[in-house]
Amino acid sequence: KSLPPLVFHWLPFIGSAPSYGNDPLTFFFKCREKYGDVFTYVMFGRKVTVALGPKGNNFVLGGKSKAFSAEDAYTHFTTPVFGKDVVYDVPNEVFMEQKRFVKVGLSTENFRVYVDEIEREVDDFMNRDGAFRIYQMNDINEWASFDVLKVMSEITILTASRTLQGREVRESLDKSFSELYMDLDGGFTPLNFLFPNLPLESYRKRDAAHIKMSEFYQSILKKRKAGSVSHDHDMMAALMDQQYRNGRPLADHEIAHIMIALLMAGQHTSSSTGSWALLHLADNPAIAEAVYEEQVKHFGLSEGQFRPMTYEELRALPILDSVIRETLRVHPPIHSIMRYVREPVVIPPTLSAPSKDSTFVVPKGHYVLACPLVSQMDPKIWRDCETWEPARWSDPEGAAAKAYTEYEDATGEQIDFGFGLVSKGTESPYQPFGAGRHRCIGEQFAYLQLGTIIATLIRKLELRLDADELPKHNFHTMIMLPKDPRTISYRRRHF
Ligand code: HEM
Repeated sequence: KSLPPLVFHWLPFIGSAPSYGNDPLTFFFKCREKYGDVFTYVMFGRKVTVALGPKGNNFVLGGKSKAFSAEDAYTHFTTPVFGKDVVYDVPNEVFMEQKRFVKVGLSTENFRVYVDEIEREVDDFMNRDGAFRIYQMNDINEWASFDVLKVMSEITILTASRTLQGREVRESLDKSFSELYMDLDGGFTPLNFLFPNLPLESYRKRDAAHIKMSEFYQSILKKRKAGSVSHDHDMMAALMDQQYRNGRPLADHEIAHIMIALLMAGQHTSSSTGSWALLHLADNPAIAEAVYEEQVKHFGLSEGQFRPMTYEELRALPILDSVIRETLRVHPPIHSIMRYVREPVVIPPTLSAPSKDSTFVVPKGHYVLACPLVSQMDPKIWRDCETWEPARWSDPEGAAAKAYTEYEDATGEQIDFGFGLVSKGTESPYQPFGAGRHRCIGEQFAYLQLGTIIATLIRKLELRLDADELPKHNFHTMIMLPKDPRTISYRRRHF
C-alpha cells in the first residue's frame, strides 16, 4: 500500500496554497492530467488528498464519519462564528439530531407561507428609494444599472429574515443587526479557515459580534417565552418545541447558535446563486423572456398584472427551475468540501491505484477533499460544459439527454450516469448541495427563496448585461462570488 502522488511544489510549508487559492478549478484539472483522479497537495502544512470525479465525490462524501470527520475539519473556523454546542462543536451524532430539529422548521406548511412573504419583500425593496430608482419613475424607456451582488445580498437577508429568521430579526435589520452581521461575516474568510486565531482587528470584531449576536437571539427567546404573541411559521418557533432523544429541550444558547449557523449557511450561498442567475439572464434575454412567459402563462391576469404564486405552483415551473439548477452547476457556491482523516482509509482501485496489485491509502492526519465544481464542469461528463444552458435540464428527451457523454472510471470501465442519478446519491457528478450525511438541508428553502426572488424581479424588469462578458469567479472568498464589475442594466417592462 502506498501514499497517493504528492503534487510538486517549490515552497515547503506553503505548498500549492497559491495555485489552489487563486483558481482551484484550473489547479485540479492540471493535477488530474498529471496524477489522475487522486493526489495530495500541501497547503500551509496541511496535507490535502483530493479525490476527483463522481467516484471521488462518493469516496469523500459517502465515507464513514468515524474515518472522515467534518467537525475536525471545520470547527476551528465555524465555532467562533456560530458559537458553542452546535454544528461542528458537538459530536456528529448530536449535530445529526440538531439537523433533524431544523428540518421541522423547514416544513412544507411553512414554505407555503413564505412564497407570499418573499414576493412582498422583493416588491417593497423595488419600491424603496435606492437600487431600483428607475422602477418608481414614469419614463419606462430609461435604463439604469445596479450592482447585482449588492442587491442580491440585501434581498437575500431581507427575505430570509422575514421568513425563517423571524419578525424580530427582520425588524432589527435596518439597525444594529446589519453591523453585527458584517463583523461576523468578516470572520468567515479563507484567512480564518487557514489561521483560526490571529491578533487582527477582524478576529476581535468577529468575537465581539458573536457575543452580541448570541445575546440578541437569546433576548428574543426570553421575550417570546414571556409574551403571548404566536410565531407559528419561523425557525425559532420550531426549535423551541424540539427535544433531544434523551428528552432534554434545546438550551437558549443552542437555539441562538443554530439560528446564527443557518443565517451564515444561507446568506452567501443564496445571494451568490441569485447573482449568477441574474447575470446569465441579463446576458441571455431570450431565456429571461422564457422565464417571463412562463410567469404570464401560469399567473398572468391583465397586461403586467400577476396573481401570487403558491408553493406547489412555484415548484412546478420547469424553466425557472432549470435556470437555478444550471446556475448551481456552473457556479456551485461551495466548490470544495473537506473532511479530516481520523483513521487510514484505502482508496478503492476503481478510483485510483498505483498498479494492478497495489492500492493507495489516505493516512490519518490528512484532509480529504471533494470538488463538486470539477465534476460539474468536466468536459468528459457534460456536453458544452462551459455553456450555461438551462435547457439541458428542462427537456429530458432532448437537450438533457445529451448532457452526458460516456465517462470512464480509473479501471477503464464505462459509466453512463443517466438523467435520474444526477441529483441523488453520493456518486453523482452534480452535487451543489453536497451528499451523504452532511448533505444540505436548506435546498428546498434555497429553491423557494431564489425562485420567488427571480420570478418577482423578472415580472417587473428587463435586464441586460453591462459588460461584454460575464464576470470571472472570485476564489478569494469562501463562496464563489462574481468579481467586479458585476453591474446589470435594467428598465421597467413595457406593457
Ligand atoms: C450543508 C450548499 C443553502 C443549511 C451544505 C453543503 C453544501 C451546501 C455543499 C455540504 C457541506 C459539507 O458536506 O461539508 C448550499 C447551497 C445553498 C445552501 C449551494 C444555496 C444555494 C442553505 C440554506 C441553509 C443551509 C438556505 C439553511 C436554511 C445547511 C446545513 C448543512 C448544509 C445545516 C449541513 C452541514 C453538515 O451536515 O455538515 N450546504 N447550501 N444551506 N447546509 Fe447548505
